[in-house]
Amino acid sequence: MAEPHLVIVSNRGPLSFRHDDDGKLVTTRSAGGLVTSLGPGVQGTGATWIAAAISTADREAAAEGVVDAEGFRLQSLVVDEQAYRQFYDVIANGTLWFLNHGLWDLPRRPRFDRHWRAAWETFRQVNHAFADAVVAEAPEGATVLVQDYHLPLVGARLARDRPDLATVHFLHTPFCTPAELRVLPTDVATEFLEGLAGHGACGFHSRRWAAAFEACCQEVLGRTPPTFVAAAAPNLADLRAVAESAACDAAVRALDEVVGDRRLIVRVDRIELSKNIVRGFHAYDELLRSRPDLRGKVVFAASIYPSRQTLPDYLAYANEVESVVERVNATWGDDSWTPIVLDASDDFPRSVAALRRYDVLLVNPVRDGLNLVAKEGPSINERDGILVLSPEAGAWEELGGIAVEAHPFDIAGTAEALGRALDMEPAGRATHARALREAVCEQSPHDWLAAQIAAAR
Ligand code: G6P
Repeated sequence: MAEPHLVIVSNRGPLSFRHDDDGKLVTTRSAGGLVTSLGPGVQGTGATWIAAAISTADREAAAEGVVDAEGFRLQSLVVDEQAYRQFYDVIANGTLWFLNHGLWDLPRRPRFDRHWRAAWETFRQVNHAFADAVVAEAPEGATVLVQDYHLPLVGARLARDRPDLATVHFLHTPFCTPAELRVLPTDVATEFLEGLAGHGACGFHSRRWAAAFEACCQEVLGRTPPTFVAAAAPNLADLRAVAESAACDAAVRALDEVVGDRRLIVRVDRIELSKNIVRGFHAYDELLRSRPDLRGKVVFAASIYPSRQTLPDYLAYANEVESVVERVNATWGDDSWTPIVLDASDDFPRSVAALRRYDVLLVNPVRDGLNLVAKEGPSINERDGILVLSPEAGAWEELGGIAVEAHPFDIAGTAEALGRALDMEPAGRATHARALREAVCEQSPHDWLAAQIAAAR
């Protein structure tokens, strides 16, 4: 019997569009963990991928209809621009992201006023528009994989309108605890959980987030819907191809010129509140203060690139990042040594070059669904680099037994962890790096997709 048709549903799709210098529409591959991990499994399956048209160029491309690409069909959903801002900025990123990453500044925010209520109403409509697109597109008995925190309300609608479909919702973020969920108005929390529970099963990168979701459902809905745990895996073929490219080699040479014979600490992140970038630099400052022997002997290369710039919190955070870097460089640097080197170019071969070249990789999020960089780095690093990892990253579940721990709020502790990682002897480094490589290469993006499909069926 033929396999049921596969439908993927996500906010950001696998392809983005832009205008070239002649104003012609050209296609580029989107970035982000969701797309890079799902992409290879979906290629060649004939799947339908339904995603939002985000930019003006995306909208133009959408008007030309379904795009056939790399063995799947991309169907872009066009949402009114104003409505999209409410859906993406106010609710998905301004509310659900903050909720699930524990980012609220509770004495001041959130504020659920009538503007927010109107945005929630729009969020519901956009989720229903995605569900309606699935209803219209999915053949009888299809398998539908809904991805991420933008689309929690799709499942309840599909259960009502298309009970023949096998559905899962995979959440790429952490999940809040019941105490954190109580910040949402009760009717909203109920609708949110019922929407998720409407899927056949809900998937998470780590057991911890699945347990938090179950506890929330038990408290609010009085039942525990089916869950599964499947951590995303790095796309090794793609990473290796980039690592071997001429652009990446050139970027390694450029980095070598800056670093010289100093030790190298690296981080690669979107400029994102949950990534804890500012505290990471405070910890480095503390390291240089407490370890005079390291002054002039280490460089911190941070590939951090702008993200979600329509949100004031993100703009403010980017400013904070910039000022702490200026302060650290002014305090410790001199004519021959810049302690922190920033690269904000969002250039993938350059980020991969930094991952090939690090002695220490710092991944210290406040909270993170998985953190794919923690898995990508060790898979292509060429210097037996040490992973310094926050236990609040979902990846801790797989790598915590190997990585050096950095408590995300403990600046002195993170400084010490960085120091210990820099001090490790070659034999210890080699053992550490080998163990990490084995752990991260165990699963492939195909296994991850298969786990979602199995959970749906
Ligand atoms: C996280 C989310 C993804 C998202 C990515 C980039 O990894 O889980 O869904 O695509 O961040 O964020 P953006 O807002 O640019 O899509």
